[in-house]
Amino acid sequence: MNPMKKLLILLIAVTSFSAIKANEGMWLVSLLNKMNEAEMKGLGLNLSAQDIYDINNASLKDAIVRLNYGQCTAEMISDQGLVLTNHHCAYDAIQTLAIQNGDDYLTKGFWAYEKNQEMPIKDFVVSFLERIEDVSARVLEGIDHTTPEADRAALIAERSKAIMEESTNDGMYETEVKSFFYGNEFYLMVYKTYSDVRLVGNPPEAIGKFGGDTDNWMWPRHTGDFSMLRIYADADNNPAGYSESNKPYAPKHHLPVSALGVGEGDYAMIMGYPGSTDRYLSSFGVKQAIDVANPAVVEVRDLKLKTMKSHMDEDPQVRLMYASKYAGVANYWKYFIGQTKGLKRLNVYGQKQAIERDFQQWANADGERKEKYGSALKMMEDHYTATTPYVKADKYLVEAGITGADIVLKAWRMGNGIQRSYDAEAKEFPADKLAGLTAQGEGSYSEYNEMLDKDLFVKVMTMYMKNVPADQVPAIFQTINGKYKGNVQKFADKMYDKSIFANKENFDAFIAKPKMKTLEKDLAWQFAGSVIALYRTGFGDADPVAYDQSYRLFVDGLRQMNSSKNYSPDANSTMRVTYGSVQDYFPADAKHYDYITTHKGILEKEDPSNPEFIVPSKLKELIENEDFGSYADANGDLIVCFLTDNDITGGNSGSPVINGDGHLIGLAFDGNWEAMSGDIAFEQELQRTISVDIRYVLFIIDKFAGATNLIEEMDLVTERKTVIPEPVLEMAPVEDGDIPMMDQMRD
Ligand code: ARG
Repeated sequence: MNPMKKLLILLIAVTSFSAIKANEGMWLVSLLNKMNEAEMKGLGLNLSAQDIYDINNASLKDAIVRLNYGQCTAEMISDQGLVLTNHHCAYDAIQTLAIQNGDDYLTKGFWAYEKNQEMPIKDFVVSFLERIEDVSARVLEGIDHTTPEADRAALIAERSKAIMEESTNDGMYETEVKSFFYGNEFYLMVYKTYSDVRLVGNPPEAIGKFGGDTDNWMWPRHTGDFSMLRIYADADNNPAGYSESNKPYAPKHHLPVSALGVGEGDYAMIMGYPGSTDRYLSSFGVKQAIDVANPAVVEVRDLKLKTMKSHMDEDPQVRLMYASKYAGVANYWKYFIGQTKGLKRLNVYGQKQAIERDFQQWANADGERKEKYGSALKMMEDHYTATTPYVKADKYLVEAGITGADIVLKAWRMGNGIQRSYDAEAKEFPADKLAGLTAQGEGSYSEYNEMLDKDLFVKVMTMYMKNVPADQVPAIFQTINGKYKGNVQKFADKMYDKSIFANKENFDAFIAKPKMKTLEKDLAWQFAGSVIALYRTGFGDADPVAYDQSYRLFVDGLRQMNSSKNYSPDANSTMRVTYGSVQDYFPADAKHYDYITTHKGILEKEDPSNPEFIVPSKLKELIENEDFGSYADANGDLIVCFLTDNDITGGNSGSPVINGDGHLIGLAFDGNWEAMSGDIAFEQELQRTISVDIRYVLFIIDKFAGATNLIEEMDLVTERKTVIPEPVLEMAPVEDGDIPMMDQMRD
C-alpha cells in the first residue's frame, strides 16, 4: 500500500477511534443521524437506526415503556404484557400494596405464580411512544431573535397547544410539545397510556435494595434491583381502567432476553426516558450550585432523614409507611453531596469558563454575530448575580416548607378539594361532593404517622427560621414569630391538635360538620397557603425571561461555533438512546474497578447486624452450593451487576441494556460515585452506568422464587448467532496485510 494511503487510513482510524470512545449523548430516538449510525455499527450494533425507531413497523421503541410520565423506564419482555423495571421504580407501589394487604412485601418479596394472583396498582400508568414529529418550523414561524421575549413565549405556547390538541386522535393519545436545546427546536410526542398495571413480582428488599443507601450511587454493586409488572388492556388491546375482564396487553414488540452474558467491550445500548440534565450549564450556574444550592438541599435533607429514621427505627409499621419517602429523600441527598464533590474535583467550573471564553471570542469575531450572541453570557451572569442571594431561601421553601412535613401538601390538596366542593350559592356541601371528600380522606392517612410528621414539622421549620433571612420566608412565619413568640413547637402543638388535616379523626369530624369557616381558620391550611403563595411569587427581581433568552442564544451559538460536533439535547423525559460498550474504569490513582461483580461479593458484604447487608438465607444457600442453574458464566461465576459507559440519568432507571442484536442483557439502575457531576459535565473516562445482569434477574426469578411461569413467557436467547460485521464508517477499504479496522477500534 502506498504510504499516503496508509497514513490516511491511520488518520481515519484515529479520529474514528476517538469518536467511538466518546459516548456522551442521550440521542432523541427519532433523530439518530449518519454519524450516530456509523458509530453504533462501529461499536458492534447489528441493527439499523430504523430497527430502533420506525413509525410504520414494529421497532425497538415499541418495547420501551414510560412509567408514570417519566418517573422511570421499563420494557416489554413477553408477548403477554410482561414488564421489567427496577425494584426502586415499583418501591412505592409495593409499599402501598403491602400496607393495603397487611403483608410486608418489601421485606418478604412477592411473586404471582398465576395471573390471577397479580395485584392491581392504583394510580400507576405506563405509556408507549407512538411517534415523534419535528414541529420546530411551525412553532417558530416568523419568530427570530428580535421578537420580543413575551411575544415569543405567547406564540410558542399558543402554537404548541394547537398542535397538541389536534394530534390526540379524538382522545386516544396523550400529546406533548417539548422544547429542545433551550427553545431552539420543538418536537411533538404522541403517547398511548395504559392504567391497568399489576404487580407480578419483586424480590425482597434484601435483594432488590441490597447495599441500601450505603451502596447507592456506587460501584462495586451487588443489587438485584428489579421488579415485574403486567399491563392489561381491553378486548381490542386498548387502554382501559382496571377490570377483571381486561386481557394482558399484546405489545408491538418485546425484547428477546439474552442468556449469553456480557464481555468487556461488548456493544451496549440503553433506551429510555432520562429526566433532566444540565450539560449546557454556565460557569456561573456551576458556582451557584456548589456554593449555595446544593449545600442548602443537603442540610435540610440531612435533618429530614435523621428525624424520619428515629421514628422508623422504633416501629416496623412506621418504617413500612415511610420506606419510600425516606428512600426518595436519601437518594437525592446523596446525589447532591456527590455532585458537589465531583464538580469541585473535576474542576467543572474551569471547564465551563474555557468554553465561555471561546464562545465570547467567536461571538465577538463578527459584527452580526456580536449583535445576536455577544451579550448572552453577560445576561446569564446577571441572572445568577441577581438570584444568588435568594437561592437558599428558594431551596428551603421547597425542601423544608413544601415537602418537609406531609401535613403541608395534604392540607393544600385536601383544602382545595373542600373549597371546590362548596356550593357558595346554596351555602352548603352537596352530598355527592361530601362523599368524594370522605373517600379522599379514607386513602389519605394510611401512609402517615402524626407523631413523625409533627416532629418533622417542628425540627425542619425551626431550622428554616434560623437559616433563612427573615425577609425571605413565608408570611405565616410572622404569626409564628408574633403570636407564638417564635416557638415552632407551640405553633405545631396547636396546629396538629386542631387542624382538619392532622389526622383521620380530625378529618372525619370535619366531614361530619363541614363549614367553610373551619377551613379558613385551619392553621395547616393557612400555613400551606402561605408557602404556596411564596412559591408562586418567587424571590427577588431576577428576570426569568432573560435566563431563557441567554441560554437559548448561548446553546444556539455554541452549536454553530462547533458545527461539526454532534451535540445531543439535554434530557427532558423524552425517549432517548445512548450507545457504548461494557467497560471497566479507574476510580482514582492506582485503583482499578472490574466491569462485573459476582455472587462472591454478596457474601463478602454480608452483615446480619446491618439491615442494608442482610443476605436472605435461601439466597445464601444457593450461593454456597453454587446452585446457579443455567445462569452462571462460563467459568461458573454468577454475575450480579456490570458496567457500561452509557450516558444515562434519573428517569432511565429500569431501562433495558440491549446488545448488538437487540436483545436484553441487563437492567440499568444507577450511576457511579466518581462521576456524580455527570448531569452537568460528562466524563468519558469516569462515567459509568450500573446495571443488573439479566442472568442474575433470571436466577432470582427461577432459582430463588421458583416463578418459572414468568421465565416461560420470555424468549430466551441461548445461542449466539454468527453475524457478519458490516463495514465501519465510510473509510478507505482495508488492504492486504493491514490490521482490520474493527479490531483496532474495539480496543
Ligand atoms: N440512585 C438510584 C437512582 O437514582 C436509586 C437507587 C435506589 N436505591 C437506593 N438505595 N436508594 O436511580
